[in-house]
Amino acid sequence: MIRDVVRIINPYESGRSAEYLKKGFIVLCSNENPFPPHPAVIEAVKDELRNTNRYPNPDYSELKEAISDYLDVGVENIAVGNRASEIIYNVCVAVLDVMDPVTIPVPSYTMFAICAMLRDASLNFVEYPYYRIEAEDLIRKSKGSKLMFLCTPNNPTGNTIDRLEEILSEFNGLVVLDEAYAEFSGKSAVDLVDEFENLIVIRTFSKFFGLAGLRVGYAVGCEEIVEAIEKIRLPFCINGVAVKAAITALENVDYYAKIRDRIVEERDRLAKELSKFESLEVFPSEANFLLVKVRKEIGLARRLEMEGIAVRDVTGLMGLKGEHVRITVGREDENSALIEALKRILE
Ligand SMILES: Cc1ncc(COP(=O)(O)O)c(C=O)c1O
Repeated sequence: MIRDVVRIINPYESGRSAEYLKKGFIVLCSNENPFPPHPAVIEAVKDELRNTNRYPNPDYSELKEAISDYLDVGVENIAVGNRASEIIYNVCVAVLDVMDPVTIPVPSYTMFAICAMLRDASLNFVEYPYYRIEAEDLIRKSKGSKLMFLCTPNNPTGNTIDRLEEILSEFNGLVVLDEAYAEFSGKSAVDLVDEFENLIVIRTFSKFFGLAGLRVGYAVGCEEIVEAIEKIRLPFCINGVAVKAAITALENVDYYAKIRDRIVEERDRLAKELSKFESLEVFPSEANFLLVKVRKEIGLARRLEMEGIAVRDVTGLMGLKGEHVRITVGREDENSALIEALKRILE
């Protein structure tokens, strides 16, 4: 009864931050925002709970208008979804037929491959050590693909993509650009959507806006692809409370920008401190996390877990060789506790 592809697919390994938080851990494994929502967001959520006997507005026009103001793009260029991952899936549903070729540079976010596989697409993985994409090489190796997934800043490497415009000009298929962490880098390709009809940019409220628990995502692209994604998304896919929270977060963007600045400052401090350990190699990051190679394999994620700190073990991820952990930048006290724990483990 179950399709073969569903049998063979490796399930997405979600970070288990809720479980770790319950145990009193310092949670640095899911690239969440460590700061609470703006007080107005909490009030808006409480207030909206009163309306939960009703369905939300099915076209999500208020949310789209708020996103349109935030990014200065037309409402007609915005599609919404129940998180970024649902939009990644919906793009695959809208575009891919059986055996359509899909190019995915790796190491990157594993949902790209899972969603494309669920459409029985033919996957073309192109490996670039630490996601240092070589534009000409990628253009050559992706010839004939219907779709390409790119991620900037990339999860789990943290770096951004150069020469995107060249890739967009030369690639004949659709480029799905995941910008889940864009606000931490200060870079975005949203403005390129007017120029390139083969670009769709996917964003989320889970990271910069700290609403991972409420599941709101959106995409920016040309009208044709936006209309298609809007058409196939399930009705009422985002709940009314989450919509209200996202709109209120957008009204308080200055608060989130200040938080972002603190996280970026902490990221740079953490990178500097971690680089002092001879056994660790830290990769430059423009996101809210750091990729770290453990030079001599010791099972670092497990050792940190024994110290009450959860980081993401990304060892074995396609395109990464050797032991690696991905560490989300936490609050200052959390990062300092991590550094102390590493001293106990590594020195
Ligand atoms: C690159 C990337 N895209 C999308 C997501 C998921 O975002 P959402 O919570 O909106 O599904 C993540 C989450 O970790 C991610 O790393």
